[in-house]
Amino acid sequence: MVSFTLNGEQRQFDGDPETPLLWVIRDAEKLTGTKYGCGIAQCGACTVHVDGMTRRSCITPISSLEGSSVTTIEGLDGREAEAVQAAWTEIDVPQCGYCQSGQIMSAVSLLQMNPKPNDADIDGAMAGNICRCATYQRIRQAIHNAADSMEG
Ligand code: FES
Ligand code: FES
Repeated sequence: MVSFTLNGEQRQFDGDPETPLLWVIRDAEKLTGTKYGCGIAQCGACTVHVDGMTRRSCITPISSLEGSSVTTIEGLDGREAEAVQAAWTEIDVPQCGYCQSGQIMSAVSLLQMNPKPNDADIDGAMAGNICRCATYQRIRQAIHNAADSMEG
């Protein structure tokens, strides 16, 4: 039995302890905003926050999360999250949308750690999030806009 917090609510999982967090989120908890892309920590589609840091849920066994706090795209809140979501809408970042929840989780984490990132900071922080539709320029602009909006 693994006890953890998911989007602020206490949860328990009593299945196979090696089950990746991604499948606990999607199959057991029915939260489908977090996506499966590669399953080997190469694409970032499955990105969530664990204790405030980005984590690839596809390779994170639920057994490693006893007592941890997990946040998915459905539970994102706070100043950075609101700024990122507004900027994403303003710029109309997504194309197919598949990678975008992972992109947003990484963008919010970046702004929580660095409220005024430059292009290199953004490229470094977002390098692990692949977008097959190549929305990278819009993602970068949206992060700048979100940072600017938090300054005002
Ligand atoms: S599905 Fe986890 S990094 Fe690709
Ligand atoms: S918007 Fe299609 S994969 Fe990123």
